[in-house]
Amino acid sequence: MTASPWHSGEPGSAVRVSVPPPSPRPPARLADGLAFGGDYNPEQWPREVWDEDVKLMREAGVNLVSLGVFAWGTVETAAGVRDWSWLDDIVELLHQGGIGIGLATPTAAPPSWLLAAHPEIAPVLADGFREPPGGRLAWCAASPVFRRYALRHVEALAERYGRHPAVRLWHIGNEFGGGNARCYCDLSAEAFRDWLRDRHGGLDAVNAAWGTQQWGHRFGAWEEILPPRGRHGAPNPGLYLDYERFSSDALLSQYLAEKAVVERHSAAPVTTNLMVGAGAQVVDYATWAPHTAIAANDHYTLVDDPLREQDLAFAADRMRGLFPDRRPWLLMESSTGSPSWQRRNRAKDPGEIARHSLGHVARGSDGAMFFQWRASPAGAEQFHSAMLPHSGSRSRVWREVLELGRSLKALREVQGTRVERARAAIVVDDPAGWALQHGLKPHRSLSYGRELREWHRALWQRNLLCDVVPPSADFDGYDLVMVPTLLTVAEPVAARLRAVPERGGTLLVTYLSGVCDADGRVITGGFPGAFREVLGAWTDEFYPLQEHETVALDDGGTVTEWTERVHLEDAESIVGYASGTLAGAPAVTRRPVGDGAAWYVSAHLPPDSIDRIADRLTAETGLVPAAEADPGVEAVRRVGDGSSFLFLLNHTDADRNAEASGLDLLTGEAFDPIVTIPANGVRVLRETPV
Ligand code: GLA
Repeated sequence: MTASPWHSGEPGSAVRVSVPPPSPRPPARLADGLAFGGDYNPEQWPREVWDEDVKLMREAGVNLVSLGVFAWGTVETAAGVRDWSWLDDIVELLHQGGIGIGLATPTAAPPSWLLAAHPEIAPVLADGFREPPGGRLAWCAASPVFRRYALRHVEALAERYGRHPAVRLWHIGNEFGGGNARCYCDLSAEAFRDWLRDRHGGLDAVNAAWGTQQWGHRFGAWEEILPPRGRHGAPNPGLYLDYERFSSDALLSQYLAEKAVVERHSAAPVTTNLMVGAGAQVVDYATWAPHTAIAANDHYTLVDDPLREQDLAFAADRMRGLFPDRRPWLLMESSTGSPSWQRRNRAKDPGEIARHSLGHVARGSDGAMFFQWRASPAGAEQFHSAMLPHSGSRSRVWREVLELGRSLKALREVQGTRVERARAAIVVDDPAGWALQHGLKPHRSLSYGRELREWHRALWQRNLLCDVVPPSADFDGYDLVMVPTLLTVAEPVAARLRAVPERGGTLLVTYLSGVCDADGRVITGGFPGAFREVLGAWTDEFYPLQEHETVALDDGGTVTEWTERVHLEDAESIVGYASGTLAGAPAVTRRPVGDGAAWYVSAHLPPDSIDRIADRLTAETGLVPAAEADPGVEAVRRVGDGSSFLFLLNHTDADRNAEASGLDLLTGEAFDPIVTIPANGVRVLRETPV
C-alpha cells in the first residue's frame, strides 16, 4: 500500500470546527485620539536601538504599536522554554513612553523547532504537496498538535501581560489565511465532515444540496467525502463552495480559540487584521468581523493601479459595511512606500502617505497604522518600506510621517464619529465570488473584484457615498442597492433585495447575479432565477465574448467579456446591443415598480456606459454628493453629535476647488463658501452648523 500524500501522521482527532454566534460589543476606543503607529519588531534590533525607537515614536506622536506579531520563536526558544526578558523590557519601555500596545499572539509564524518536531502541522496543498517550513502561516487549522502548542503559548503570554496597563488591544495572529487559506490533509477532511453534519444534518441532505447524482457521485458514507483535491477535473460546485466555507470557519475557529484564552486573562479588546479589498477574499470576512471588538484592516495600494485611491475607498467602504452600525474601524497596516511583494516596488509620491492615510480615516478608520515602524535590514522583508526607513530620520518619508502624526493629532475630535449615512450600497459576498471564479463556468476568467470596483468607481467619482455591504445587511435604509455578479444567493437574501424596489428604492442587478442558490445549484426557469420576476426580464442564453471580441451598444459604448440574450416581460430596454448575434436585443433593462425601479445589466459594460447609467440613477434616486467639487477631488463626511467633518482629498497635480465652508483642522484656515485644496493635498473642514 502506498502512503497517501494527504495523510498527516498526527495522532488524535482533527480539531472540531464550529463557530458560535458572536457576542455583540460596543465599539472599542484604542487610543487617546486617532491611533497612529505600526508593527514594531524590536527583536530584530539590539537593545540600544529601542531607546531611540521610543524617543522617535514620541516625536512622531505614535500612540499604538502592534508588538510581537512574529515573536513566538524568540520567546519560546524550545518547547516550554520561554525567555520573557526582552519582551518584559520593551513592554515596560513603551509603557513609560506612554505608547499603547496592540499585543499580538504570535501564532502566525510557528517556531522552527516546532516545525522540525512536528512537520505534520504544515498545510497540505490540493495535490498532496506539504508546505515546507520557511514561510508564515505554516499550519493547518485542523491540526490538534498545532492547536495545543499555539494555545499553550497564548495562555502563557496572556497570563503574563493580560492586565498590563499598556496593553490596549489584542492582535490575534496575523492575516489569517494569508498562506494557509486551505489545507487538504486527512485531518482537514475529517473536520470538514463534522462541519457538514452541522450545516446539512444528514448525508441525504448533503447529496441533495450538491446534486451528487451527476456522474454517479452519490455519497453512501461520510468517509467517502473528501476535500476537492487534485489539479485536474472539476469538483462538484456544492462541495467546492462548502469546502471554501469550511476553510474560512476552520481559521476562524483558531482565532476564536486564541481569543477565548486571551479573554480569560485580559479585559482589553480583541481583534485580528483582515485583508479586506475588492473581490472575493481568502476567508469570508462578513462572518469574522462580528467576532472582533474593532474591525481592523491591512490595505496596500498597488503601484500599477491607476485608480488606487478608488481601490482604497472600496476597501474602506467595505470595512465600514462589516458592522450594521457602521462603527469606526482601524487601518492596522498600510505602507509609507511600496511593499516588497509587488513586481516593481516604487516609493509613494510626495503627499501620498497623508492622502492615503486620511482617505481611510475619512471613510471610518479611527487611525492610521503601518507595516512597519523601522525597516528590517535583514530577512525576507528587508526592502519593505517603513515609518523609519533605512536612511533614518533624514528621509522624506520620516518628515511625512511626522507631518501625518501632527495631522492625526489635529483631527482628534474626529475619533468615534461615524461616516455620514450612505444612501447607496453595493452588495459583496465572498462565497459568491469564490463560486464565480471557480469550476466549469460559462466564462472562466471573470473577475469578481473588477465587477464590484467598476460600479463603485462610478459612485466614487461622483462623491456619492456608498456602503459596501454583505448579504446580511439591512437594505431598508438605502435608496439604491447594486448587486454586481452575485452568482449565488440565499433565498431570504434575494427576497430582501427584491423588496428594495417594492418599497420605492432602486435595485440594480448585473449579469450572473442570482443564477444559483447558496449551495451553488442553478435556480431553474430562466436566468437570473432569484430576480427575474422583479426585473421583468429574463435570459436563456449566454454569449460570453472571446478575448479580442467586442460588441457595440446603441448608447455608443463597446462591450467586452460578457453578453447574453435578454427577453423582456414588463421591463423596457434602456440600452440595446447594436452589433453581433444579439443586435437589436436589450442589453440594459429597467422595470418601474411603484415609486421604485429594478434595473438589469446583462453585459460587462464599459466605463462610459456605466457612467451614463450612474447619472440616470443619481437623478432618479436623488442621491447628492458629499460636496460639489472639481474633478479629482474626493469628498467624504464624518458626523458626530452636533459636529460634522468634511474630508477633501485632491488626487490631482493641480490645486482644485470645492464648495464648502468651515475651518480646516489641519492648517487652521477658514473657508467660505469655496475651499481650495492644494495639489495632492488634503483638507478636513470642521463644518459650520447651519
Ligand atoms: C502583510 C503582513 C505584514 C507584512 C506586510 C508587508 O500585511 O501582515 O506582516 O508582511 O504584509 O506588506
